[in-house]
Amino acid sequence: MTSYKELGLVNTKELFAKAMKGGYAIPAYNFNNMEQLQAIIQACVETKSPVILQVSSGARKYANATLLRNMARGAVEYAHELGYDIPIVLHLDHGDTFELCVDCIENGFSSVMIDGSSLSYNDNVALTKKVCEYAHAQKDYVTVEGELGVLAGVEDDVVAEKSHYTMPDEVEDFVSKTGVDSLAISIGTSHGRSKFTPEQCTKNADGILIPPPLRFDILAEIEKRIPGFPIVLHGSSSVPIEYVQEIEKYGGHLPNSIGIPEDQLRKAAKSAVCKINIDSDGRLAMTAAIRKVFVTKPEEFDPRKYLGPARDELKKLYMHKNIEVLGSANQA
Ligand code: G3H
Ligand code: 13P
Ligand code: ZN
Repeated sequence: MTSYKELGLVNTKELFAKAMKGGYAIPAYNFNNMEQLQAIIQACVETKSPVILQVSSGARKYANATLLRNMARGAVEYAHELGYDIPIVLHLDHGDTFELCVDCIENGFSSVMIDGSSLSYNDNVALTKKVCEYAHAQKDYVTVEGELGVLAGVEDDVVAEKSHYTMPDEVEDFVSKTGVDSLAISIGTSHGRSKFTPEQCTKNADGILIPPPLRFDILAEIEKRIPGFPIVLHGSSSVPIEYVQEIEKYGGHLPNSIGIPEDQLRKAAKSAVCKINIDSDGRLAMTAAIRKVFVTKPEEFDPRKYLGPARDELKKLYMHKNIEVLGSANQA
């Protein structure tokens, strides 16, 4: 058993309380390899932002649980070495079983998500409550994120074809029965790079597709029912058109790539939304940089020569998010 405090990590409790007061959101960036982790830490240290390092069960299988635990420890030391100690959380993204949550907690995670959103309401309550009881009883309190409502798209092996919005009438009961520390809600975001079909969008004067706005009315209703309670937004990549174009310029094919506009996320970050999840944008940034090297330097075969530029592009992306979108810069 390794407690997260031994690794120098923190849970989300205090971070969310500060984010709620300050009107910003903590970035939750997914990672599964060294270059992604380097980029996240460099960007968050340089912008003095707290950060949630997010690991899906797929990422854990890919990278290995022991390596991940030690990478998180290394991330804390690396930030220190870079000259600024930012608060770092290690969080399980979309945990689907009690056993997986326990395994992560025993391996140094300071926060877990139990995603019972595909279950019936009562089964979601029961599973989330069980995870909370276990996580909160640890010597060092581990925070738990639950989810109500369904996001469209792929969450590890779970594919939801259709989303359904979170029902404000359920949130108070869910939070009080389960004891969760934060709640992921569905208000129009979804996972992956195709969040909307072109038919769902309108065109502006320049012919650019504008997606439908997020359901801030539902968010406001939820805030009324559970005032001051930390809300989480999944599926919050903006799918920057520049990356999509760069990828396609260098041989990729990503039709119908449409994300959440940054102004919508900026607005959300000022509300009770305290954590914003971003994975797909990082994938796009890396892929664009790597494809460019492959096509423009066909003689190159040293992985550092394409993973290095990918890492630099990721860092740029995360700095931009912290400063311009989430407002987490200078909050550490
Ligand atoms: O919500 C899902 C995240 O983007 C993680 O994706 O399960 O492919 O690692 P993954
Ligand atoms: P994106 O696919 O929009 O990056 O969402 C990531 C996410 O919600 C991880 O849990
Ligand atoms: Zn998610």
